[in-house]
Amino acid sequence: MMNKKINQKKISVIEYYSLTNLNLLISNKPINRYSNNNQIFNKTEELEKLKKQINEIKNCDLKASSKNVVFGDGNPDSKIMLIGEGPGAQEDIKGVPFVGAAGQLLDKMLKAINLDRSVVYISNVVNFRPPNNRKPTDGEIKKYYPFLKKHIEIINPKILVLLGATALNAIIGKENSISKIRGSWINKSIGNSNLDIITTFHPAFLIRKPDQKKFAWNDLKLLKKKIDKLNII
Ligand code: URA
Repeated sequence: MMNKKINQKKISVIEYYSLTNLNLLISNKPINRYSNNNQIFNKTEELEKLKKQINEIKNCDLKASSKNVVFGDGNPDSKIMLIGEGPGAQEDIKGVPFVGAAGQLLDKMLKAINLDRSVVYISNVVNFRPPNNRKPTDGEIKKYYPFLKKHIEIINPKILVLLGATALNAIIGKENSISKIRGSWINKSIGNSNLDIITTFHPAFLIRKPDQKKFAWNDLKLLKKKIDKLNII
């Protein structure tokens, strides 16, 4: 009689759990809390982890000749991510992207459409300074691409702004020249991020060729229009 009573109690509890879906509580299966969709994962921790992985890269001439890893700057929660080429001398010293002459022009370009580093996020194709500011080789771009892809996945932007041919090659490919592709939007998915991508001239190029600034200004206006349309600031 006593046994029957206990069993009836157990059955009621099990019925209650199954009705309310609380059987999750008594499951031995771990709950996956890492989800890009509901942002349960910790962005700051993920970025720190990625920075550490890049800093521990093995057999890399770029790292061997650099002072610092140059990872990212700006607002990691931004929906607008800018990608440059690679650190220069100033960036190498400070460990922050776009702080030299090109960075100063980039800040002016952002300001022209009411943006600044508090509302965008900035990184580069390679995270260590190529010696004498040479362009990163195809091999170096390939080597750093998994880091860049992961970086984009963590930031999860809606808009990607590619600054110059190296960023264009790394993200879109080598088929299109920058002069043909700049000023138009490309849609592409990287990881879970569905991205609207625009390419414009690199600020260092604009310092050398100021007559090209009018084209960059057009691209910036397109960027501003898209930001307003998506309502992401
Ligand atoms: N040029 C780049 O492409 N990136 C920097 O961080 C600085 C200059």
